[in-house]
Parts: sequence; C-alpha cells; structure tokens
Amino acid sequence: VSRFKMSVRSSSVSMAAAPMLTKLQQDCATPLPVLRNVAASMSDDIRAGLAVDGGSDLKMILSYVDSLPTGDEKGLFYALDLGGTNFRVLRVELGGKDKRVIAIESDQVSIPQELMSATSEELFDFIASALANFAHKGGNFPGKKGEIGFTFSFPVKQTSIDSGILIKWTKGFAVSGTVCIINFGFLGLTLWSSFITEHMLRHCLAHAGKDVVACLNEAMDRKGIDMRVSALVNDTVATLAGARYWDDDVMVSVILGTGTNACYVERMDCIPKLQGEFSPSRRTIVNLEWGAFSKGLPLTVFDRDMDAASINPGEQANSSFNIFEKTISGMYLGEIARRALLHMAEEGSLFGKSVPEKLSMPFVLGTPDLSTMQQDGTEDLHTVGSVLYNVAGVETNLSSRKIVLEVCDTIVKRAARLAGAGIVGILQKIEEDTKDAIFRKRTVVAMDGGLYERYPQYRRYLKEAVAELLGPETSQNIVIEHSKDGSGIGAALLAATNSKYGRNL
Ligand code: GLC
Repeated sequence: VSRFKMSVRSSSVSMAAAPMLTKLQQDCATPLPVLRNVAASMSDDIRAGLAVDGGSDLKMILSYVDSLPTGDEKGLFYALDLGGTNFRVLRVELGGKDKRVIAIESDQVSIPQELMSATSEELFDFIASALANFAHKGGNFPGKKGEIGFTFSFPVKQTSIDSGILIKWTKGFAVSGTVCIINFGFLGLTLWSSFITEHMLRHCLAHAGKDVVACLNEAMDRKGIDMRVSALVNDTVATLAGARYWDDDVMVSVILGTGTNACYVERMDCIPKLQGEFSPSRRTIVNLEWGAFSKGLPLTVFDRDMDAASINPGEQANSSFNIFEKTISGMYLGEIARRALLHMAEEGSLFGKSVPEKLSMPFVLGTPDLSTMQQDGTEDLHTVGSVLYNVAGVETNLSSRKIVLEVCDTIVKRAARLAGAGIVGILQKIEEDTKDAIFRKRTVVAMDGGLYERYPQYRRYLKEAVAELLGPETSQNIVIEHSKDGSGIGAALLAATNSKYGRNL
C-alpha cells in the first residue's frame, strides 16, 4: 500500500512542478539567434569600450603588458595569486628556451571568510604572512630581492605594469579601504568609479582608493619581507601569458571559475583611447572585465532576485551589477538553481507538502553540487538523492530527482552557451578589425578556472555553442584549450619580462 501511495505521490509531484520546469527552460533558452545577438553585442561593446573609458559595459582595461613571454626568461620568480576563495604563492625557476620551467613549488591557503569583509590592512597582512612563511620554507636566495608577479583577480584600473587601483570588489569580497570611491560630500553623492579619468584617479589616490601594489608593499614592509612586485596582472592576463609561453597561437584567454572574465591580444592602433600613433605591429593585452556585460541575456526572475539580494546589486533600477558573471560563473549557478528549486517546492510541491527549511538558505547549494549530481549514472539517481539530502536536508523520490537534474542542466546549459557566445564575440572582433585572419589559421583560446575544469557538461555545452556559431569550417581552426594553472607560471613570467633588475639569476 505504501509503495502504491508513494508512486501516486511522486507522479503528482512531477505533474505540479512540470509546467514550472517548462517555464524555466523557456526563459533560459539560448537558440542560435539569441547567441548570435550576444556575440555581436559583445563585439560592439568591446569596440565602444576601446574607444573611450565608460563607452560600454566593458571596461576594456589596458594591462600594460605589451610584450609576451618568449621562452628566453631565466631566473627565480615568485607569483602571488589572489582571486577567489583561495590564495596561492608560487616559486618558479625559469631556465630559458631549452629548459623552460625547471622547478615549481607552491602553497595554497584558503582565505578565512571574515577576511573577505575585513579592512585592506588585515587582508594584505594575511597575504604577506603567507608569503613570508613560504619564502622562509624555501630559503631565500642571496643578494637579490625576490620579484613577484601579483595576480589580483578583480577589476583594477591599471596605472602602470606595477600599480593599479581597485575599482570594485567582486565575487563576495567586500574589503574596506581599497576601493576607489569618489566622494562629493557636499552633494551627498558617492560615485562608484566605473568611469575613472586621470583627474578622478588622482583624487582617488588622495582619498579612499589605494594602489593594491602599495597595499601589498606596505604589508610586506610590516612583516619585514624584502621583495617587490614587478607586475600586477589580472588572472586572465596571467593565463594568457602562461599559455603563450608554450603556444604562439594563443590570442584569447577566459577564466570560468568563481567569477569569470576574458582578455585578448589587441593591436594598439585599434585602441582609440590610447591616443597615440602606433604601428599595426604593436600589441597589448586588454582585459574586458566581461562580467559586467549585460546585452541580450535571457534572464529569469531568479537571476533578478539573486542580483537584488547580492552584496553588489545593480546600482540603478533595471540594471544589474556584473549580470553576465552572475549568469555564467561558478559562484552563482548553484544559487540560481536553489532559487528555482525553492520556488518549485513552494508553488509546485516539488518535494511533497512541506518545503525543506534548509533550501531557503542562500548559497546552500553550490555549483560543485550541481556538477556532482549531473555526473550521476545510477538508475535511481542515487547520488542526486544523497546530494540533496546532505546539502539541503531534502528527501526525494525518483521523479523529483529527475526534475532537479533538469533544473541543473537548464541553468548550466544557458551559462555555458552564453560563455561560448562571449568567446565568439571576442574572436569576431579580432577577425573583423585586426586583419589577422584568425579564422583561417589555428587560433587558441586558453581556458582556466574550476568551473571549466570540473564541470564536463559545461565544457561540452560551451564548445557546442562556439561550433554552432562559427560553423564547421571556422570552428576547426579555433582551439579551445584548458591551460591548467597557466596563471601561476604566467604571473612569474610577467615578473621576469618586467624585471626591475634584469635577469634574476
Ligand atoms: C571577476 C573579476 C575579474 C576576474 C574574474 C575571474 O570577474 O572582476 O577581474 O578576472 O572574476 O577570476
């Protein structure tokens, strides 16, 4: 009898929630025309952001990385990587063309939650201590100051290769005392710095915003560490440099991890805001900060609610902050799915009469949970059941597990296909403007980040979307390649190319 009751209940469960799933799938659909529009808007936004600061959602930040590693780099260099939930320190020994990377050592430290909303001194002191521990372990090398490539994966208005001002924290960080805030106290106005001019920058420096390299140098002084930062780079830039070290065809790099972003190699004469005469052969890396992209995205009520509840919501009505990042990156996919599932539980009795309490907790479902569930190959979706039980205290039957899987797939498919469209937008911009004919020769997009690395469905959907958009002939030439840990070596390489002391050994 109880088994009979169970099956009746399970089918009525799916019947009530099924139309909600269909609605979610419709709202998240990314057919080719939607993707084409996103790709074209990405190209347009790139151009507008290169023309003038504030010209589009994309900041198009100049990296000051004008020469890429060649393979000749030699010496011992450090890399610091601060960007997501972890912080890494690396020591890399470079041996030049033949030997390349002779040795690499690294340490990973997780950032205590409370430091993510502490003061900048506290955060940088923590980083400097971790660096000191690491440096002592390896024994310092005599006579030379240690040179550091500092990968700082937040939007920074670079002022040179080794200085820059944080524009805004992303990805759950809210550290005080670092962001450039321009205060017009007399007007009662605080202007977040998305459109920073040189004048504003000076104002910033004099007031709240601080150079992140200066913050780190001061912390190193406090800890008595004799090292200096030679290159301050975004993680996308470090990844591009790292991948380029091994492969000359790398033109673009994309991070899909906690957050997301992309950069690419641009011709200087295609950057009007550089305001100079440049020969077409001079190139530089430009960091899109594409998390802020917003055009043509298929959004749902769950995305909008999540944005409104975030610590960095869109500042104006109808605008969302970093909505591309919130739609496609690892920090948010689990949360979007949780919101959709909660809605289905409340309005469609997805998990029976009562709504599981834990499911109301923001971020209780992580993107890694979605990936674990999607790898479930068992007939009764056993893994899905245990993830839901362990994470959200939810009891499930087969039909609700199937719906949960569909929800995950819908959110992940939209994310990955939109990321693919973003990549095509960059490639099309390069193809149209730089006359490099990148579509007719091998061109590599270097990918990194935990989401890309650890979510097979995400990778597959992304590649499918790129192939659909480019067509079979062109997509043969575009290689989307995982560049594992490229950013660590990349930052050390950029410290080498920008060394203050010439060759380090
Ligand atoms: C966030 C940061 C960006 C970084 C990306 C990937 O979007 O703003 O600078 O590159 O995350 O880590």
